Amino acid sequence: MTTPFVSAAAAVAVFSAVNAFAQSSDPVDPSAFVDQFEATFGKFEGYRRSGAKGICAVGEFVGTAEARKLSTASAFSGKPVPVIVRFSVGGANPKAPDNAKSQRNMALQFDLPGGEQWQMGNISAPVFGASSPQQFFALLASRQPDPATKQPDPAKVKAFNEANPDVLLLPKYLASQPVPASFGSINYWGVHGFGLVSASGEKQFGKWIFEPVAGVQGLSDNEAKAKGPSFLFDDLRQRVKEGKVAFHFNLELAQSGDKIDNATVPLPEGRKKVTLGTLKITSVSADAEGPCLSITYNPMVLPKGVEASADPMLAARAAPYAVSLGRRLVEGAKQQ
Ligand code: HEM
Repeated sequence: MTTPFVSAAAAVAVFSAVNAFAQSSDPVDPSAFVDQFEATFGKFEGYRRSGAKGICAVGEFVGTAEARKLSTASAFSGKPVPVIVRFSVGGANPKAPDNAKSQRNMALQFDLPGGEQWQMGNISAPVFGASSPQQFFALLASRQPDPATKQPDPAKVKAFNEANPDVLLLPKYLASQPVPASFGSINYWGVHGFGLVSASGEKQFGKWIFEPVAGVQGLSDNEAKAKGPSFLFDDLRQRVKEGKVAFHFNLELAQSGDKIDNATVPLPEGRKKVTLGTLKITSVSADAEGPCLSITYNPMVLPKGVEASADPMLAARAAPYAVSLGRRLVEGAKQQ
């Protein structure tokens, strides 16, 4: 018979192991990663294990001459490129409230000539909540609810945070911002470094941001309360119908010595920013339908002319995304 009690010494040992794992370079098994998402946030069958509450849209991207100087990617040809878009609320809960100071996401798939694709998942913060897959896995483990209280253990959370202060940058940023008024009125950052490769083979690294053409718009606490937990989808439909949702795709150019391989470290203030093009959202699908449903936005799917940086978080995303896609398709893909 197994006992539900774990001695204090055993608990400390387990926890020290979690903390030590955060600093290690041991590989994280992709299925174990997705299992840990489920253990920490709950299992919602059919839904993405992260960014569960979302909506599909489509749009059109047109690149600039400045982008063509930096990269040969056909996305920047200047001709309109179709894009399959997914907007979502952060987290694994498909009923996550829209009026909370939580993360919003904008995932894109550019469908390029010759069957080439470019996929990315951007978030509404300039930094991510972990700098390595090991640290991210251990972060999730440190937040796993205690079976007795059904809540994360505050002592574990505190000890993990103290040993890994960079995991607090993302939640602190989100807490400092108002609730977004719309999916169409916030900045979305790529957070990873990418290299743009020109026709002569020069590589310019940078980090990108999608900035709303109509400007950033947040809600006061009272406005957010009045909006209730479910307004973002209808708001998006209305704004798109009025032709008001578009983003400048801007690249901040890294200089030599800048850190570009860490998703918790933004580029220094004041780096030159180049507009690579404009993305206009042209229509929004009915709730729970649309072409984004069966896509997993894998940021390693890059076109010729764009290359990944050495950020370990970037390469680590592909396999767990595929596992999550596999599970939700088998369960019957849903998103709202
Ligand atoms: C090793 C690190 C990471 C793991 C294990 C992970 C895991 C996941 C999983 C399982 C999904 C759902 C995929 C699906 O079912 O299609 C997802 C979605 C997402 N992740 Fe991550 N993630 C990681 C890092 C990041 C980072 C650094 C960012 C920052 C840009 C990010 C942004 C997103 C976004 C925007 C989505 C929603 C995409 C959509 O709408 O399909 N993730 N993540």
